[in-house]
Amino acid sequence: VKRVRTRHFQNAKQQGLKITGLTSYDQLTAGIFDRAGIDFLLVGDSAGNNVLGYDTTLPITVDELIPLARSVSNAVKRALVVADLPFGSYETGTDDALHTAFRFMKETRAHAVKLEGGVRSAEQIRRIVEAGIPVMGHIGYTPQSEHGLGGHVVQGRGAGVEQLLADAHAVQDAGAFAVVLEMVPAAAAKRVTEELSIPTIGIGAGPDTDGQILVWTDWAGMTTGRLPRFVKQYAQLAQTLEDAARAYAADVTGGVFPAAEHSFED
Ligand code: KIV
Ligand code: NA
Repeated sequence: VKRVRTRHFQNAKQQGLKITGLTSYDQLTAGIFDRAGIDFLLVGDSAGNNVLGYDTTLPITVDELIPLARSVSNAVKRALVVADLPFGSYETGTDDALHTAFRFMKETRAHAVKLEGGVRSAEQIRRIVEAGIPVMGHIGYTPQSEHGLGGHVVQGRGAGVEQLLADAHAVQDAGAFAVVLEMVPAAAAKRVTEELSIPTIGIGAGPDTDGQILVWTDWAGMTTGRLPRFVKQYAQLAQTLEDAARAYAADVTGGVFPAAEHSFED
C-alpha cells in the first residue's frame, strides 16, 4: 500500500475527496484503523484523559506521549501519523517548539506534528516547517487553553468568525499542511474551508470541512458519561467489555472456565 503523505491532503482538497482521521494511542487500535483505511491517525494529547486518566489535556508531558506515538507509528502501513505537541512544550519560543518537534520525529517515527493556536503560534509553525517537519494547525476551541477560554465553549460565533479567519490564515501562511477546526459553527467552518487552500479537518465544525476527526474512545463508546454533541458513536465497546468481564468472572467463579479444551493433557 502507498503511504498517505501531506500531498494526499492537498490532492484530496483539490478533488473534493473527504479526509478521514481518528485519534489512536496504541498499536492495536492503530493497526485496526489503518487496515480500515483511515487516512491519518492523531496521537492526541487527549491521551492525557483517555489513557492516563487526567481530567484535562494539560498535565500530559512529552515523555508520556512519546511512547504512545511510537506505538502508533510502529503499527501503521498506510495512515499518516500526527503527534500532538503537549501543553508547555512549544509556546515558550521557536527553539523550544523545534526541539519538541525533533524529539517526536526522531523518537517516534511520526510523520507530522500538531500544535494549538493560530496567530499566537505562527512563528512556531513556521520554524518547524522550515526544518522539514509537516505541521497540522489546530484552531477554534483549543483544549490546552480551556481555562483561558473559560471552559468548553464554541468559538467563532458571531463576530468571532473574524478571529477564526485570522487564525486560519496565520496557520496557512506559516506553512501548515492542514488545520483542525474544533467546535466552531458550521457556517464559520464552511467559510474558513472556502477561503483556505490547505484542507480543514473538523471536529464539531459541521459537514463542510475537508475532513473529519473524532476521538476514538468517544467514537467507539469506550468512554462512559456525557459526550459532546458533535460525537457520533459507532460502537459500544465499554458495554461490550463490561459484559465480557462479567461473563468471565461468572465462568471462573462458577467453575465453567477453563474447560477441558482450554487445558493441557499430561
Ligand atoms: O488530542 C486530541 O484528541 C485532539 C483532537 C480533538 C483534534 O487534538
Ligand atoms: Na489535542
